[in-house]
Amino acid sequence: MSLVKSTAMRALNGSFSSSSSFLVKLTQPHVRRGQAQSIRAFSVIMSPPSKAVVYERHGPPDSVTRVIELPPVEVKENDVCVKMLAAPINPSDINRIEGVYPVRPQVPAVGGHEGVGEVHLVGSAVKGLERGDWVIPSPPSFGTWQSYIVKDQSVWHKINKDTPMEYAATVIVNPLTALKMLEDFTTLNKGDSIVQNGATSIVGQCIIQLARIRGIHSINIIRDRVGSDEVKGILRELGADEVFTESQLEVKNIKDLLINIPEPALGFNCVGGDAASLVLKFLRNGGTMVTYGGMSKKPITVSTSSFIFKDLSLRGFWLQRWLTPDKAKECRSMIDSLLSLAREGKLRYGMELAPFNNFHAALDKALGKQGSQPKQVIRF
Ligand SMILES: NC(=O)c1ccc[n+]([C@@H]2O[C@H](COP(=O)([O-])OP(=O)(O)OC[C@H]3O[C@@H](n4cnc5c(N)ncnc54)[C@H](OP(=O)(O)O)[C@@H]3O)[C@@H](O)[C@H]2O)c1
Repeated sequence: MSLVKSTAMRALNGSFSSSSSFLVKLTQPHVRRGQAQSIRAFSVIMSPPSKAVVYERHGPPDSVTRVIELPPVEVKENDVCVKMLAAPINPSDINRIEGVYPVRPQVPAVGGHEGVGEVHLVGSAVKGLERGDWVIPSPPSFGTWQSYIVKDQSVWHKINKDTPMEYAATVIVNPLTALKMLEDFTTLNKGDSIVQNGATSIVGQCIIQLARIRGIHSINIIRDRVGSDEVKGILRELGADEVFTESQLEVKNIKDLLINIPEPALGFNCVGGDAASLVLKFLRNGGTMVTYGGMSKKPITVSTSSFIFKDLSLRGFWLQRWLTPDKAKECRSMIDSLLSLAREGKLRYGMELAPFNNFHAALDKALGKQGSQPKQVIRF
């Protein structure tokens, strides 16, 4: 038996007991009545075995992950066993496997942090959830890249089954980040504007749409690429007011490019490096840039004059810092409102559903091995 299938692995999927042997005994026809009653008192519900993407050490995700079958686990009285339907591969999932994320799951671990599933079995004390309901782990929790998950009922948030599956699977990490960042840093009024780089990211696409719903203009920066006009068209269709490639912004006075859009008070930085400097250049005096991602892996450089003459502020945002247990109710209500926008078609973003049995092909795309690719969402 490999290390992964050893006792340590059982912790990944909840506690594991030798109770399956009880079930075997119960099915024996020759068990006498008295015996059967005493055994029934100890009878347990077990989950099906689970196919999971597991890593036993941190490192490059394409070399340290593999798909294995985990044994069934006990579904205790307050537990819910969920058959996963879909889960995305987010940059933070990759960073967790690499071991460079501030919060690292203990290895061996199952990958993935958010997703949607269907209730398969419920423990005897579970209330408000039944087989067939759609649920998401909220707050998100480790180990969503597996076909069955057993966790306490408090982990699961029931959602409307009319929601398109891929949006239910991806609603927390990125759309919620976009919503929180628009609300938390500066009071934005109708007619104001924001600027962002990494506008093609899911967070970026959500910012465009959530801003548009509030009557706020967005100025968007994307990487240079073949087909940039097509990408600009897609972002404009989502509600972007302006979309520039980085090379278009190599001009003396960047603000001359803004026609009928006020200088932004708030900027979002997904990328770092030169792309962050471009966001800073657009900001008005006293403006704030919020950094939430570091896709280029390059540091942010700020000119001395930006601080002295423009009095710019630099802030950071990390959803996980906000997702504390006391925010659970608020978080779930924000999730419901985002999902309702998705059902109405007012919140859209590009995704590609990838079959679980071809997980590593999807992972390669998420790792950028084939250039820019839509968000990969595993379909179980
Ligand atoms: N702080 C938080 O709480 C929080 C929450 C959610 C997400 N995030 C972070 O936000 C970022 C975006 O996440 P996401 O899931 O929305 O992304 P995503 O949909 O997977 O898209 C990735 C984005 O990064 C860009 N990109 C990829 N490699 C790049 C590089 N080397 N240089 C510059 N840009 C590059 C892509 O641009 P192309 O279209 O040109 O390929 C695309 O815009 C990630 O860094 C993620 O960790 C942070």
